[in-house]
Amino acid sequence: MPTLPTVAIIGAGSSGIAAAKALHERGVPFECYEASDRVGGNWVIDNKNGMSAAYRDLHINTSRDRMQFSDFPMPRSLPDFPHHTQIAAYFDDYVEHFGFRDRIRFETAIERARPRDDGTWELTDADGERRAHDMLVVANGHHSDQRWPEPAFPGSDSFEGIQMHAHDYRDNGFLAGRDVVVLGMGNSAMDIAVESSYVARTTHLAARRGAWIVPKYLFGKPLDQISTIPHVPHWLSGRISEAIVRLHTGRPERYGLPKPDHRFGAAHPTVSGRILDRLIHGAIAPRPNLMRLGTDWVQFADGTRVHADVVVYCTGYRITFPFFDEGFLAAPGNRIELFRRVFAPGTPNLAFVGLLQPVGAIMPLAEAQGQWIAEYLRGEYHLPAPRAMASGMRREAKRMRRRYVASERHTIQVDFDTYLANLRRERRRGAARAAAAGRTLPVPALVRAEEAAPA
Ligand SMILES: Cc1cc2nc3c(=O)[nH]c(=O)nc-3n(C[C@H](O)[C@H](O)[C@H](O)COP(=O)(O)OP(=O)(O)OC[C@H]3O[C@@H](n4cnc5c(N)ncnc54)[C@H](O)[C@@H]3O)c2cc1C
Ligand SMILES: NC(=O)c1ccc[n+]([C@@H]2O[C@H](COP(=O)([O-])OP(=O)(O)OC[C@H]3O[C@@H](n4cnc5c(N)ncnc54)[C@H](OP(=O)(O)O)[C@@H]3O)[C@@H](O)[C@H]2O)c1
Repeated sequence: MPTLPTVAIIGAGSSGIAAAKALHERGVPFECYEASDRVGGNWVIDNKNGMSAAYRDLHINTSRDRMQFSDFPMPRSLPDFPHHTQIAAYFDDYVEHFGFRDRIRFETAIERARPRDDGTWELTDADGERRAHDMLVVANGHHSDQRWPEPAFPGSDSFEGIQMHAHDYRDNGFLAGRDVVVLGMGNSAMDIAVESSYVARTTHLAARRGAWIVPKYLFGKPLDQISTIPHVPHWLSGRISEAIVRLHTGRPERYGLPKPDHRFGAAHPTVSGRILDRLIHGAIAPRPNLMRLGTDWVQFADGTRVHADVVVYCTGYRITFPFFDEGFLAAPGNRIELFRRVFAPGTPNLAFVGLLQPVGAIMPLAEAQGQWIAEYLRGEYHLPAPRAMASGMRREAKRMRRRYVASERHTIQVDFDTYLANLRRERRRGAARAAAAGRTLPVPALVRAEEAAPA
């Protein structure tokens, strides 16, 4: 085996540790740089990296069996939808079990990553220390950079109450007795509106678009464990699911919510077992979009006006890579073109892990991506020719535009089973290409070990 390239992984959240484990197990040398003092990223509430959006009562909305890594089952003693503390502990146990904690450099925030003249990477951390690596794997997460409405709603600068983003929400204590407006129809809005409804004086749920809301359980099983068959046309599975949801809960309009302007499956699933109850109990008032704010009131698009003390913007997140020069790589409008959501065309020594939004959990997909990257770095997999990659990416982008509601939240969407099946096929094809080419290393080992890990 020739000398393998040295790898830097940015981030030790669930995606970074999945990639680290795959490299560790295949003998690919790597360092994983983590801003925090622990692994788990988003799942560590009050994470000292300031990047976690977890709140006290957060439970996963993708079920335990869908979320677990393939070779490290979550304990059967855990519920179907565990609490965030149990999920954070699971990721910590994963690192311990597979024994690569010593490869993670904690409290090392990477501030800059730039390609050097020879193509290798120079990483600079917050203390100004520099390290070089042959390959960069980015796993910095995509749910920490808050997206606020742009432009801001008229009058928002004169509002005298609290305006906050869902990312900063921890618990409902401060909402007690207040008039609260929650904006959005994603999962953050559902949870925060429900929590607010138990303590606030009033809770208004405002939305610019309706959503199909699905329960966590259907037919006595976690929803995401009701089998999906890869390659069934999405329109067909969408129609079947829509019929089931309509039979189960009825149309969203029956609850006073806006009528979805799209068929089921054309938006990221909004999963909530509780919101419909709170709506039919009158504890949450459904509203159309915000239109403007005054000193202590908000007005909605239908002209109605209510007193408000707090506005919680559950308006999603931006995909950003603060360590890259913008001219090198950015994701304007949350768009970033990657081959199978991993490889950056034109930069063979750059890959991304977990930069996708599945219908289902991210973790098993990040695990498969990590294994793919390990095969690539060992010369066991070769990428297709650039033109084939480009046309594959164009096709994929077109499919996505056709299928999903045009929104910045649907730029990296994938179907869990279909993505895994396609990746398995691609890995087989690339293995055949690599074997035919004599398993040369696509990323040469140019960096010396001491440059990668200075004392
Ligand atoms: C409220 C909420 C609930 C969610 N619930 C689910 C769910 O139920 N199921 C699901 O599948 N997904 C869920 N998600 C999606 C979530 O993104 C994933 O669960 C998961 O956290 C993704 O892991 P990650 O490693 O990609 O990112 P993160 O968990 O965000 O981890 C990224 C890591 O990278 C580190 N990092 C970032 N930048 C740097 C840097 N410059 N230098 C060094 N380190 C850096 C961070 O410190 C962090 O540890 C949820 C998201 C939110 C916001
Ligand atoms: N485990 C859990 O229970 C849980 C809880 C919370 C979040 N999550 C996950 O965390 C991720 C982020 O979820 P999220 O709910 O925070 O964000 P999101 O899914 O991106 O939803 C953002 C919502 O805000 C709306 N919006 C955006 N900009 C707006 C604007 N300018 N004006 C009015 N409305 C606007 C969007 O509407 P459009 O559809 O029109 O764009 C959408 O309804 C998702 O993966 C989600 O599944 C999981």
